[in-house]
Amino acid sequence: MAPILVTGAAGGSQGGTGRRVAETLLRASLPVRAFVHSEDARAAELKDLGAEIALGDLREIQAVTPALQGVRRAYFTYPVSAGMLDAAAVFAAVGHQVGLERVVAVSQLGSDPQAGTPHMRRHWVAEQALDRANIGAVHLRAAVFFENLRVAIRDTGELRLPLGSPDTVLPLIAGEDVAGVGAGVLRTEGPVDPVLWLAGEVMTVAEAAEVLGVPYMNVDPDEWASTAISKYGNEVAVEHLTHLWTMFAAIGSGHELFRVTESIEQFTGRPPITLREFAGSTE
Ligand SMILES: NC(=O)c1ccc[n+]([C@@H]2O[C@H](COP(=O)([O-])OP(=O)(O)OC[C@H]3O[C@@H](n4cnc5c(N)ncnc54)[C@H](OP(=O)(O)O)[C@@H]3O)[C@@H](O)[C@H]2O)c1
Repeated sequence: MAPILVTGAAGGSQGGTGRRVAETLLRASLPVRAFVHSEDARAAELKDLGAEIALGDLREIQAVTPALQGVRRAYFTYPVSAGMLDAAAVFAAVGHQVGLERVVAVSQLGSDPQAGTPHMRRHWVAEQALDRANIGAVHLRAAVFFENLRVAIRDTGELRLPLGSPDTVLPLIAGEDVAGVGAGVLRTEGPVDPVLWLAGEVMTVAEAAEVLGVPYMNVDPDEWASTAISKYGNEVAVEHLTHLWTMFAAIGSGHELFRVTESIEQFTGRPPITLREFAGSTE
């Protein structure tokens, strides 16, 4: 059987979705080629689990070309950081060349040319590049990861976000559920909708804070951005999140896209993970 290429396979600080997809496929005895950014302990663990390792930078065609040789299905993820569009364009071009049949690509819930954050608009462009390559793209348009809230409360013990009213509504999902749908789609033989909206729980920020056991504190967006770089580590993430939180504050009590979606249960075979379950886990 052809190996399934899983990018972001080492996992990272956002949702670790590539790592979870790689592990799920390996547990099902499927051949995995794990694309990793560096040869470190995470890569060694993947090798021990039975993955073949492809090493390199997803923005570099000379790294992606050998990694996609002989591959028919792939999982594409790239963190909220500089270079996502370069990586998607490279993946689309090489995927087309090698005759990729399905790529499951992580995107964002609001991906659209008019979306409220620059990175959501970039995701829409990335979706277009993958679609035009005719490589069976399925876009996982995911809500805010629970993991994101965990980062937000780190250090202060408060959910300090520029979300305005405590009644501002957030669409949320566990990184594990995004990965569960990704692995499920990769294992599905028949046709799959090219866009899957993914939200596992919809709640106000006050409810989210209560579940996490911390107070919610509304903060000024500029003040938030000035402190966020130390938590999120890169300027693209801070720019994206500053726009995202203010967009949710402006939307207020909800949007038609803010609803729990059936795709999670459809592809994982179980209900979405709740924030309460996530908060009780040690990961
Ligand atoms: N965070 C949220 O709330 C949220 C919400 C909705 C959608 N999303 C979407 O989720 C996706 C990211 O999630 P994730 O769970 O996969 O992220 P993640 O856990 O941060 O993992 C990212 C992986 O990509 C690797 N990587 C980074 N730069 C690379 C490069 N240039 N070449 C090769 N590999 C590289 C990292 O490796 P190293 O660690 O070795 O660099 C890491 O293994 C994004 O598309 C984002 O828009 C996120």
